[in-house]
Amino acid sequence: MEKLENKFYIRTYGCQMNKYDSDIIKALLLKENFKEVSTPEEADYIFINTCAVREHAEKRAIGRLNSLKSLKKNKPETIVGVVGCMAKNHPDLIHHSVVDFLAPPDSYRNLAKWAIAKKSGYIPEDKNEQYSDIFIYPNKISSYLSITRGCNYFCSYCIVPYTRGLIRSRPPNNILEEAEELIDGGMRELTLLGQNINAYYYKGVDFPEILKRVANLKGLKRLNFLTSHPKDIPDNLFSVMAEHNNVTNYLHLPLQSGKDSILTRMNRGYTLKDYLRIIDKARHLLDDLYLSTDIIVGFPGEKEEDFEETLRAVERIRFDQSYMFAYSDRKGTLAALLKDKVDERIKKHRLRRLIEIQNSITMEKASAFKGKKMEVLIVGEAKKGGKIGKNRSGRIIIINGVAKIGSIYIVKINRINGRVPIGEIEKEV
Ligand code: SAH
Ligand code: SF4
Ligand code: F3S
Repeated sequence: MEKLENKFYIRTYGCQMNKYDSDIIKALLLKENFKEVSTPEEADYIFINTCAVREHAEKRAIGRLNSLKSLKKNKPETIVGVVGCMAKNHPDLIHHSVVDFLAPPDSYRNLAKWAIAKKSGYIPEDKNEQYSDIFIYPNKISSYLSITRGCNYFCSYCIVPYTRGLIRSRPPNNILEEAEELIDGGMRELTLLGQNINAYYYKGVDFPEILKRVANLKGLKRLNFLTSHPKDIPDNLFSVMAEHNNVTNYLHLPLQSGKDSILTRMNRGYTLKDYLRIIDKARHLLDDLYLSTDIIVGFPGEKEEDFEETLRAVERIRFDQSYMFAYSDRKGTLAALLKDKVDERIKKHRLRRLIEIQNSITMEKASAFKGKKMEVLIVGEAKKGGKIGKNRSGRIIIINGVAKIGSIYIVKINRINGRVPIGEIEKEV
């Protein structure tokens, strides 16, 4: 008789690292004869992979858990596990009426066993866990690959070091093996992940060195990495990027604030001047650098004039894209203990002003592409017809006409739709 498969459904919130972790969870479950289904109704096991970085992210996950109440009432045998960052910093979730167990980020190896045994409670973690031997097989043209776990930086507002523990770097051979298998499966664009990826270090191999080794793999057409910290950009990083044609000229470098005293209170370890120096060097060495950033407004103690400094920095640096957030208190962090909190309404107002300024910069920068020619790798189908491509800086370009996914073409940009350049193919490379 055929063995019954355990059906699971997984829903993921949060950053790319969490998405990668969901792929690790899938790989671990598939090994144990589980089968993925696409709705919670079909599932014997429901996993909600959560994010704790801001209150809003937590509310979404809790909303999702609440929405499972009627399902659990009709099908009480369904097992619900909260996995990911909230499983670590919200142990109280175990009392939520639909929740059977909590699985924090470094406990996934025991997830299948725990779920099948229908055990409730909190799965213990292995703080040295790296999942190095667990390779993901998304069989997609673009994929992520996490090369470190955790973070040691303790920015005063941030919950990540508490939910994900201290930094661990994966052995280089292991990273190369996984990347090669992904390439064999058809992957052409790879994004290396780490909370603070420049801190990668394994027995003499630092980040520029592992970047070089991955870039040299045959068949890899685009290589990106996230997230860089302005405190520790290696001296040779930009020259290594420039020397490898398939490494995109893309840098995600969170500024967080344009005011030095706020940066100090955030425990970021650099000044605006340091940041500007890094950008100058990167723009000098890398053609058409695509620069993105993260900014927090309304950090405790941020005065109107401090916020204005952030606006001025944004106008001066001209980021291609910014991820902008209102400060959110995270229990257990140092910033949560600071007294001079900014009023919610003021935070929202500042965020709106910042978004407005950044949006117009983003549009202006995109519109400068009109008439330009560039190399574009096709990575997928566009929603409204045509194809999605990425240029040598990782910028998204929409292509009209027939093009093969995974191939590179010379494309001429003939118009801009909002912030997205649209182009026609001239020839295949
Ligand atoms: N390791 C990355 C990402 C951390 S989380 C990094 O260091 O940049 C992603 C972003 O969320 C951060 O860069 C920060 O801008 C934002 N963030 C983190 N904690 C926050 C908080 N308590 N309130 C508001 N935004 C926050
Ligand atoms: Fe959080 Fe700072 Fe670490 Fe990024 S570098 S994960 S913001 S503590
Ligand atoms: Fe990522 Fe959110 Fe955790 S940003 S590391 S899933 S707190």
